[in-house]
Amino acid sequence: MKSKALLELLSDGQVHSGESLASRLGVSRTAIWKQIRRAMDEGAEIATIRGRGYRLTSRLDLLDRDSVLECLAPARRDSLFLNVLDEVDSTNAEVLRQIPAGAGKIPVVMADCQTAGRGRRGRVWQSPRGENLYLSIGLTFHGGFGVLDGLSLVLGVAVANALEQLGVPEVGLKWPNDIFLPDGKLGGILVELQGELEEGVVQVIAGIGLNVRMSRTEGVDQPWSSLARACPEIEWSRNQIAGAVIDAVLDAVPVFSDLGFRDFREPWQRRDIFKGKSLQAKGGEIEGVGCGIDGNGNYRIQTTDGVVPVRAGEISLRVMQ
Ligand code: BTN
Repeated sequence: MKSKALLELLSDGQVHSGESLASRLGVSRTAIWKQIRRAMDEGAEIATIRGRGYRLTSRLDLLDRDSVLECLAPARRDSLFLNVLDEVDSTNAEVLRQIPAGAGKIPVVMADCQTAGRGRRGRVWQSPRGENLYLSIGLTFHGGFGVLDGLSLVLGVAVANALEQLGVPEVGLKWPNDIFLPDGKLGGILVELQGELEEGVVQVIAGIGLNVRMSRTEGVDQPWSSLARACPEIEWSRNQIAGAVIDAVLDAVPVFSDLGFRDFREPWQRRDIFKGKSLQAKGGEIEGVGCGIDGNGNYRIQTTDGVVPVRAGEISLRVMQ
């Protein structure tokens, strides 16, 4: 964000004259005026007080690497290779690019906006500047692709845990790993795999998108929610949300690596938004009632012929109207 330094100066909520801002940033007053306009285009609310200067009237929630680190469990801080960017194509793509520079640390990338945010099934993930959380974590697993069964559900449980810890009630999971609130989709998780670099070593990129103050909805084709809308009483900080999500994911991963999906089944079932709903899968080939997941993370549908498991990644489920 080109106007970040300016916004930092304005973040005290006081009136600042164009002249004082210009001298503190070492630019002309015209440049300040242009930055004010740009910041307003990007969503900041700035009042012009005639004859006196400018005052920020909205709360700022700037991404800040140090603040994210402060929100993490202290023992974890040194283990991360954390990059907080102004703009990137996709944080998932950036994690992949960062791996060689990470010197064995866990690569984590966050960005204020994404120009080519990726969703599941090749969809675009709308990623407007300054409003939401776009976060990706590089995870390494040993034992080949077979050990990853259920991982995407585990990530959903981890994100739900983080949100509940931050005070969000009624966090639901839509199989396999969409994050839901009662009024719609709050976020999604995109798991991308890299081929085995060495035998049995698998690199996974877990990309998490959460709507924090989503305001624009062009291109969003389903009911959506945001943290600010669902819980307006909480002063949402994207740095704090990121810290909680990173901690929750990195707490869950070793448990999953050691014990598999077992311990995550019940926490997932408890939040299942499909439970008891009439569902269709395989474009209508399978119809029945949602009855949770099995021990491998497949979704179970009670049909007239018995329970049919649906494998993650194979097909999508939808609620029958
Ligand atoms: C979904 O379709 O529900 C998954 C959306 C995942 C979006 C996140 S935002 C951070 C990361 N970077 C991306 O390009 N996608 C994921």
